Amino acid sequence: MAESEKILCIEQDASVVRQLQEILVDRAGYAVSFDADPDMALASFKDNQFDLVIAPFGIGGLDGLELIKRLKAVDPDCVIILLEKNSHARLLEDSRLLGAYDIISNDTVPGRLLSVVGKGIELHAILAGSRKFAAILKEQNASLQKQNLLLAKRIDESTRNLTRLYEDLRSTYMRTIKALAQAIDARDHYTHSHSENVAHIGVIIAQEMGLSARDLEHVRQASELHDLGKIGIEDRILTKPAALDAEEWEQIKRHPQMGAQILEPLTFLNDVIELVRQHHEHYDGRGYPKGLKGEEILLGAQIIHLADAYETMRSERAYRKVPLSKQEAIAEVKKNSGTQFSPRVVEAFLKVVDTL
Ligand SMILES: [Fe+2]
Ligand SMILES: [Fe+2]
Repeated sequence: MAESEKILCIEQDASVVRQLQEILVDRAGYAVSFDADPDMALASFKDNQFDLVIAPFGIGGLDGLELIKRLKAVDPDCVIILLEKNSHARLLEDSRLLGAYDIISNDTVPGRLLSVVGKGIELHAILAGSRKFAAILKEQNASLQKQNLLLAKRIDESTRNLTRLYEDLRSTYMRTIKALAQAIDARDHYTHSHSENVAHIGVIIAQEMGLSARDLEHVRQASELHDLGKIGIEDRILTKPAALDAEEWEQIKRHPQMGAQILEPLTFLNDVIELVRQHHEHYDGRGYPKGLKGEEILLGAQIIHLADAYETMRSERAYRKVPLSKQEAIAEVKKNSGTQFSPRVVEAFLKVVDTL
């Protein structure tokens, strides 16, 4: 038997004390504290750690059930063996309900007493171990939760920083490309502010047609960048006052595709890029670069195409010094509805043209 296992015996009967001393200490080698006074015994129980308590059902005016309650209040895992002296059967049952481990009679054979005590001590070790384990788990859980919160906070902060950086980067890109598009417009003083004007007209038509905020933004961005591909066209062609020959016209027709290619690495502009590529497609399929027809052409591109054409008609050009009047330009748009222009875009345009 392990000497470290400690038992508290609360007993006033000298013959019982002698008997227990003989069995538990002399024979089994347990460390047993004997106490005749229940109050002193309880104080000792509070100050020392005992693996097991042996007590009679009632002692020194203290009811057996009350003793169990007080012991359990100090150590909920404490294992209590009651020594029974002709006690009432119901009281014994109540004591079990309150947590007494076993009830044995004074004249129990030593072998049975040792077996009950041994098992009781094992039970205490298991109960104490699992309580300790639960406490460690609870502590670790709390610490993990704290770390999780910290981690979530850091991830949140990092995500916000990254989002801010990404937004900064996007707007820097957009500003750079817009500046480039404006520089291209400015190569020819006739087209100065052309893209900006197209964006203004395009957004107003798009609003009239009830496009979502996201699609409106795409129309605005694509309008600002629609002629970016003109960067690859020679100045003499862009500013030629006379009609273009076939080869020069081929160069001009490449600019939507070229603009899209320049923007392609900027994947966040994917939707905008397609609008740039399609901005010279005609509703009847006679536009370029692909000859798309009707609703094969993205609605945003249909809108930009009309805005671009109207803006061009209303501006001075190298090949046409006097711009068309508003009435002449409107008449031209109406005339080409269903051929060059989408009828529903023309319809929306006619509703807002007075505000342009
Ligand atoms: Fe264009
Ligand atoms: Fe244009």
